[in-house]
Amino acid sequence: MKRAAVIGYPIAHSKSPRIHGFWLQQLGLAGSYDAIEVLPENLRRFCAELPSSRLAGVNVTLPHKIAVAQHVAAMTPLAAQVGAVNTVIVQADGSLLGHNTDVGGFAQPLTKMDDFTGKKAVVLGAGGAARAIVAGLASLGLGSIHIVNRSLDKAAELGEIAPVSVQDWHSVDAALEGAAILVNTTSLGMTGQPPLDINLSPLATGAVVNDIVYAPLETALLAQARQRGLRTIDGLDMLIGQAAEAFELFFGAAPDRAEDATLRALLGS
Ligand code: ATR
Repeated sequence: MKRAAVIGYPIAHSKSPRIHGFWLQQLGLAGSYDAIEVLPENLRRFCAELPSSRLAGVNVTLPHKIAVAQHVAAMTPLAAQVGAVNTVIVQADGSLLGHNTDVGGFAQPLTKMDDFTGKKAVVLGAGGAARAIVAGLASLGLGSIHIVNRSLDKAAELGEIAPVSVQDWHSVDAALEGAAILVNTTSLGMTGQPPLDINLSPLATGAVVNDIVYAPLETALLAQARQRGLRTIDGLDMLIGQAAEAFELFFGAAPDRAEDATLRALLGS
């Protein structure tokens, strides 16, 4: 029986155990997936002890995604590009390999929708989540990636991952002009946070609007996009997508994505 878990702090509200538990049950696999609280000061010890635990690997969430890179023997090229690890696998020789499945989790719904070669994308925000998203956008062969952020220094740091141009919020309308993809990576629009107040009219016809916020699932941004006849991707799509790639790494089987609607209903309840 294979075992996996998610580590983070705090971890009580993680949806990952429900996602992986659903797929284990769907596939009839003998396996387990737990949530383990790991304080920042205990991360090094947790990683040192991971090879002798009974875990095949772990998902890594806030606040450990960047710090854990120091505690693995090697990283995949994608994880190294992003500078963050969200999945650690114990290899046959006992060493730890760091993966980043957030990149694929973000990019996969877009690649299924359209060919974005040469098109323009805009990312709102430049925090931890934006790193994997910029790498995902770079994998789509876009013509340009524009970052809109309050702090321009933080936005410019994303240039380590892929070529980007940076703007502040005063230029958001100009940045959105003709864009085929818009991604909100800020916490604006999340329950309890200020609203994200932007006008989507400058976007290209048929643009895709992606909001990584999943509480609420239907943000004001996505509602406006739908009203304008634009295509949308919500926060659960990326969450489920990154989990699906990690599930294969842990359990050696692909989840049945035809069951996503059932899973989404379960997560929303
Ligand atoms: P995460 O790791 O989830 O991406 P984060 O690192 O805290 O979270 O990043 C939050 C992002 O939302 C940042 O880009 C932040 O902008 P700054 O880099 O300028 O701080 C952005 N953000 C948060 N609250 C904001 C607000 N009230 N107005 C504008 N941007 C905001």
